[in-house]
Amino acid sequence: MPWNERMRARYERDRAQGGPVDILAIETSCDETAAAVVRDGRLIVSSVVASQAESHGRFGGVVPEVASRGHVEHVSEVVDAALRQAGHSPQTVQAVAVTFAPGLIGALFVGVTAAKTLAQFADAPLIGVHHLAGHMFAALLETDVEPPFLALVVSGGHTELLRVGARNELERLGATRDDAAGEAFDKVARALGLGYPGGPAVERAAREGNPLALPFPRAKLEEGTLDFSFSGLKSAVLLHLDKLRRAAAQENAPDVAASFQRAVVDALAEKVERALDRTGERIFVLAGGVATNQSLRARLEGVCAARGVRFVAPPAWLCTDNAAMIGAAAYWRYQQGRLDDLALTARAVMPLYEWR
Ligand code: KG4
Ligand code: ZN
Repeated sequence: MPWNERMRARYERDRAQGGPVDILAIETSCDETAAAVVRDGRLIVSSVVASQAESHGRFGGVVPEVASRGHVEHVSEVVDAALRQAGHSPQTVQAVAVTFAPGLIGALFVGVTAAKTLAQFADAPLIGVHHLAGHMFAALLETDVEPPFLALVVSGGHTELLRVGARNELERLGATRDDAAGEAFDKVARALGLGYPGGPAVERAAREGNPLALPFPRAKLEEGTLDFSFSGLKSAVLLHLDKLRRAAAQENAPDVAASFQRAVVDALAEKVERALDRTGERIFVLAGGVATNQSLRARLEGVCAARGVRFVAPPAWLCTDNAAMIGAAAYWRYQQGRLDDLALTARAVMPLYEWR
């Protein structure tokens, strides 16, 4: 029997038995090598994340070749650890899920190859997951949150406002037209000499600064749009620092960080308010690496409270890249019988709506 048929037979058998669905998930889209076992899309049975931040820190950002090599070195031990901690083997999980897009192509390729090998070896169903959907479904882990909800996903690569329907259908309401919010944090951090990853460093510096010290611009987009733009803000900050340096004037890093952060939070909050009012959604999910920012969380919590909307943001360790979120997103595909085959391949660029 070809693999495809053996895998389908295994899926039908598991579904008929009706036990818990434990999914092994793998994530290697950027600079974290991660694996997890997630039960029924909710319960984190195990989660292992090996960060490469130290290897990239010296270069001030993620170096694709370094990332791929790091994943090759660590993926087996990370997957083994996640399986072992969950008391599983590749043969006993109900499916193998993996981030296949979007991200660094070489990095994605390592995870996809590992997942395909395991699925083939164990006749396990294979599920390719869109990284952004993973960030969104992190909100369902260890909670009772159910779609429909409005979600803002803010990471190093994306800034998107999405609506998740009752049957998990995805609708994109708005997105950044240039830089992602996290990318702007990273670039400002670099210009301030705060190192990589930049977001947490800017947030720390901002705590000592005055958010009203510098009038950085808010992007002017056409009336009514739910899109974002952060490149103008980023350039304004870099220009400001450049001017100070040329005048040999002392820069006040905390004030720059705080004023920049305020401008980002203002822009995000404005669109979230508009989207909540327009859609009437009763649950709001904040996700992605930038969602760990306390100032952003506090502001959006206030926006929700003023409307009686439930505010949900995963704990910090589930906001940054991890594999548990990939297992959570994969569960919904598994339930719908939407399985992939060995033709699954990594894709550097893919809009979320193409994965629906
Ligand atoms: O979701 P994530 O771990 O990886 C991507 O998919 O991009 O997000 C990483 C991004 C980086 O740009 C990082 O600087 C940003 O999230 N970030 C933050 C904070 N923590 C991480 N940005 C602002 N404030 C933070 N506390
Ligand atoms: Zn991410």
